[in-house]
This record gives sequence, C-alpha cells and structure tokens, in this order.
Amino acid sequence: MGSLENKSVLVLGAGLLGGASAIRLAQDGAKVTVADFDTSKSEVVASSIREAGGRATATGADICDPTTLAAAVAEAVRFGSGLHGLFVNSYEGQVARQDNNIVDIDLDIWRRSLDGNVTGTLITMREAIPHMLASGGGCILCTSSSDSFDSPPNRVAYPVTKFALHALTRHVAARWGREGIRANCLVPGLVPPRLPNGDFPPDKKEFYEGYVAQTPSTRAGEPSDVANYVRFLMSEEAEWINGQILGIDGGLVLR
Ligand SMILES: NC(=O)c1ccc[n+]([C@@H]2O[C@H](COP(=O)([O-])OP(=O)(O)OC[C@H]3O[C@@H](n4cnc5c(N)ncnc54)[C@H](O)[C@@H]3O)[C@@H](O)[C@H]2O)c1
Repeated sequence: MGSLENKSVLVLGAGLLGGASAIRLAQDGAKVTVADFDTSKSEVVASSIREAGGRATATGADICDPTTLAAAVAEAVRFGSGLHGLFVNSYEGQVARQDNNIVDIDLDIWRRSLDGNVTGTLITMREAIPHMLASGGGCILCTSSSDSFDSPPNRVAYPVTKFALHALTRHVAARWGREGIRANCLVPGLVPPRLPNGDFPPDKKEFYEGYVAQTPSTRAGEPSDVANYVRFLMSEEAEWINGQILGIDGGLVLR
C-alpha cells in the first residue's frame, strides 16, 4: 500500500512538472484529479495513470477563471470523496511570453499575470481549504520559480507573481496549520523539456548546457526531481514541514 492510499489530490497543470507529479502521486495510491487549461493534456495524463492501474480523472481549469477553478476543486472532491492535497502548478502561460521590464511591459500583461498567477492560486486555495478541513486536513503546494530570487532583467511580472506565492504559502501555513493544513512552496530551477531520446532540443541545447554549467550540480533538473519531492511533501512523512519555501534547483540559489 502506498503512503498516499485513498488520499484525494487535485493537480492543476498537466505539463512537464504537473504531469510527472500527478503520475507519481497516483503511483503512491492517491486518487488524482488532473486539471489543465488544455483538457486534452489533462486527459493524456489521467489516461496514462489509469492504464498503469492508478486512479485518475481529468478536467479543465483556467487559472484566470474563478468559475473553472471552483469546478475543478468540486470535481476533485467528487472523484476522491473529499480533498487531502492540492498542487497549484499552473501559471498564465500565454502572457509569460510577453513579459518585459517595468518601463516596457504592457500593463494588461502585468494585470493578467497577477490575475492568473496570484489571484488564481488564492482562489483555488480558498475553494479547497473548507473541503480539506472537512476531510481532516491536508497539504497545499504551489510552484514558484528560482526567478523569484534571481530576477531576470527583462521580465518583471513572472518573478514578482512567483515571489507573491511565498507570502501566500506562509499565510495559509500560519492560519490553518493548527487545523491540520500544511502549505509549502516549491521553487524549482530550470527543468528543461527533452526530446523523446532524452536530448535537449537542438535550438535550446547551448542555452540549457550553459544553465547547467552555472549550477553546482552534475546535471540538469528532471521532472521526476520535482515529482518525487511533491510525493514526499504530500505524505505524512512531511507532517512537520509547514510554511516553507523549498528550493529544488541543483543548488543554483544558495540561501
Ligand atoms: N519547467 C521549469 O523549468 C520551471 C522552472 C521553474 C518554475 N516552473 C513553474 O512550474 C509550473 C509548471 O511548469 P511546467 O514546466 O510544467 O510548464 P508546462 O508549460 O510544461 O506546463 C504548463 C501547463 O499549464 C497550462 N496552462 C497554460 N495556461 C494556463 C491557464 N491560463 N490556466 C491553466 N493552465 C494553463 C498549459 O496547458 C500546460 O499544460 C509553472 O508554474 C512554472 O512557472 C517551471
């Protein structure tokens, strides 16, 4: 029996990190609801979990749309007969590409980043917390970025909104820790996508290799690095870890 047997967990984001984490949680026995803006992506992840003998369902959720976030939480409660875990791993992917410095950023892009990355995370937590209390407590994780500590010169919205998640995490930990809800924030370094043969895509190879060379580590990050950490933090083994901002970056940010 896995350490998450019969725990109901909602994972928002079915991309590189969310997909790997959903699969890892299900391998440990969790009943996983996978939600993504692109429902075909959540369905691929949920199907692969079911094909491997795990329990999962797929739904849609736009991190900028409170109605869909509430619906995703409701679906997780229905599917898992309660809610014990929430991993808010989505971000506003469309506007992230249009981020800029504070002089040049389009204010609509800034506002949409705040709306999705910060308010969307807050709304999801707000929807989930009463169900977690009713289920006897649980664990909330969200995903920041090493950019929140080491701000890139030509992107302001992404690092600011990621840094805001640290405060949101500490708030939830301080307010609901005594009632059995833990909240922690993951701060990953770059986890590059790979080709099916494991290589970096040729147009990004030099950039990714340069990044790895900056880290005091022997290799690049893998989705499994994050997924294994998520599984541990969701489990009772991590019961005394609350309100922490947890780097997972090969030592890139030493603080
Ligand atoms: N991969 C990395 O190197 C890295 C590093 C640091 C932090 N992060 C953070 O990790 C999280 C996941 O990143 P990833 O690498 O898995 O990204 P990814 O691009 O592989 O997946 C992101 C997912 O978000 C979905 N998405 C896009 N817009 C959305 C919206 N409006 N509402 C809901 N879902 C939406 C996409 O469909 C996609 O499936 C993000 O919060 C990202 O900021 C990633």
